[in-house]
Amino acid sequence: MTLKLALFISGRGSNMLSIQKACEAPDFPAKINLVLSNRADAAGLDIAREKGLQTEVVNHKDYNSRVAFDEEVNKRLEKHDVDLIVLAGFMRILSPEFIKKWPERIINIHPSLLPAYKGLHPHQQALDDGAKESGCSVHYVTAELDGGPVIGQRRIPVLSSDTPDTLAARVLEQEHLLYPEVIRQIAEDKA
Ligand code: GRF
Repeated sequence: MTLKLALFISGRGSNMLSIQKACEAPDFPAKINLVLSNRADAAGLDIAREKGLQTEVVNHKDYNSRVAFDEEVNKRLEKHDVDLIVLAGFMRILSPEFIKKWPERIINIHPSLLPAYKGLHPHQQALDDGAKESGCSVHYVTAELDGGPVIGQRRIPVLSSDTPDTLAARVLEQEHLLYPEVIRQIAEDKA
């Protein structure tokens, strides 16, 4: 079975691109049916279009409540045939109502070893904490921010010379490996 993905992005889309590259392999058990962004100026949307992917923009500023925004997102999802929502740098919090509609069918990547360093500035949090290790996690999305069950992680050592930017760059390399791995596991029902 080929798992049909909707990728949600708000920015540069490097995780989206790593997943798109993985999907090009003939034996990869998933394909991207939709890239959705809440920002028309997300750089990742241009990359998605260059790759011939279907895109949708739902600008959160056009909706006066989170629920109204989420309803429009749901309508766009219905237009495309989607099994799994993959949040890849999507900077909006989804409503509990939306999450209930997609039970265990929304995943997110966060650049820390969850449950450590949830929320904003995880690399700064790791350095402030004197962490010896960091990494990234893919987890199911629940109503608790960065709090759902972890599906997979990749780890790297924190170097004494690290700044938030150097740590982010090394963790990002791991994100690009981890997300396709986890999507494969889910598609093969091994998660
Ligand atoms: C990644 O670090 C991801 O872990 C976080 O947001 C960033 C998105 O980067 N949730 P990109 O848009 O995929 O390049």
